[in-house]
Amino acid sequence: MSPNRHTLAEMLTEKLADRIRRGGPITFAEFQDAALYDPETGFFTTGGGAGRVGGDFVTSPEVGSLFGTLVARYLDGAWRRLGEPDPFVVVEAGAGRGKLAADVLSAVPACAPALRYVLVERAAILRTEQRRLLRIEPADEALGPVLRSADPDEDDELAPGTGPIVASIDELPGIAFEGVVVANELLDNLPVRIVERSDGRWVEVRVGLAGDDLVEVLIDADPGLAAEADVVAAAAPLEVGGRLPVPTAIADWLATVAGVLRRGEVLLVDYAGDGAGLAARGQRQWLRTYRRHDRGGDPLVAPGSQDITCDVPLEYLRSTAIRAGFVVAEESSQAAWLTDLGVEALVEEGRAVWRERAHLGDLAAIAGRSRVGEAGALLDPDGLGAHQVITLERTVR
Ligand SMILES: C[S@@+](CC[C@H](N)C(=O)[O-])C[C@H]1O[C@@H](n2cnc3c(N)ncnc32)[C@H](O)[C@@H]1O
Repeated sequence: MSPNRHTLAEMLTEKLADRIRRGGPITFAEFQDAALYDPETGFFTTGGGAGRVGGDFVTSPEVGSLFGTLVARYLDGAWRRLGEPDPFVVVEAGAGRGKLAADVLSAVPACAPALRYVLVERAAILRTEQRRLLRIEPADEALGPVLRSADPDEDDELAPGTGPIVASIDELPGIAFEGVVVANELLDNLPVRIVERSDGRWVEVRVGLAGDDLVEVLIDADPGLAAEADVVAAAAPLEVGGRLPVPTAIADWLATVAGVLRRGEVLLVDYAGDGAGLAARGQRQWLRTYRRHDRGGDPLVAPGSQDITCDVPLEYLRSTAIRAGFVVAEESSQAAWLTDLGVEALVEEGRAVWRERAHLGDLAAIAGRSRVGEAGALLDPDGLGAHQVITLERTVR
């Protein structure tokens, strides 16, 4: 850990200790929210995040441009399923430094002239970085109708075909739209509460103090949390002492999305597993920390210096999506989803270019060879290929 990160972690520990001394133990979700997003010392707010060089972990868009090319194909499919609306709003939640957005636009999808692409990113430092990759317009250009009239005496008219327009905001838009919400590796970073099975009841794992150190404290779960824990554990027989995450922030996020997405689809790509699998693997496996491409340490130690991420419990995701008013349309592994979108043909194209141009060693040759390597990483059954892709549908209300 760099000295700067060390000092920030000490500052955040002290700040949290102060809060606990005054108000009692906090939920793990409150702790995680501060560790990742505290305005002065949080992991993401101080520049942590995805990236092959200089980042802390690699996500599918950071592997190369192939993932974005295939997401662009998916978006074209969704646009056609919706009847080719113009404007077609794509909201990318947890957009990070904008790599996926840049690759989608570089692929020049058929929907581009109708496209209003809105990046939603909580960390200001990452919103600033997006400007290196993308030309960002004011949010009302992307979310409001673009009105044009040549004659100043005439009323403005909605001008179709003015896309793509790209905007960036810090939270989900407040106005209703028709289109697609995309979230790649967002849900695993939304704060979770943690429960432990006790004799016929749930206890909650909170964060308290022992001297000046942050430590786990067990208290009885309130009835609301216990009911949510039952949903996570629906198909997971847990022994006394067994633990599960309860990502209530996912339920809240889905409800907010349902409130603004009038008609369209939600594409979720993330680490996920069923409750039984999570219960069998245990907390050290479903709750992980990362720093500079390595597994980090105890989540309660040096908060803000490492990413804290949690596998998404599938039964809970399905149940809260339905509760919010969505239909679960499709579920598959990332490998199967990319295969359906035609990744193999793109790889074969790349191989052919490499075969023809390897002796030249030019950019096209290198891009061709790189596509083969990228596909290997994106389809890896022990890596990104094992991510779950879940598509939700929202029909007209
Ligand atoms: C694991 S990173 C993924 C970044 C990017 N999607 C990718 O695949 O490379 C999660 C991102 O979500 C952002 N984030 C977390 N909660 C958010 C929220 N409620 N709204 C918008 N962004 C959020 C974080 O700041 C972080 O940049």
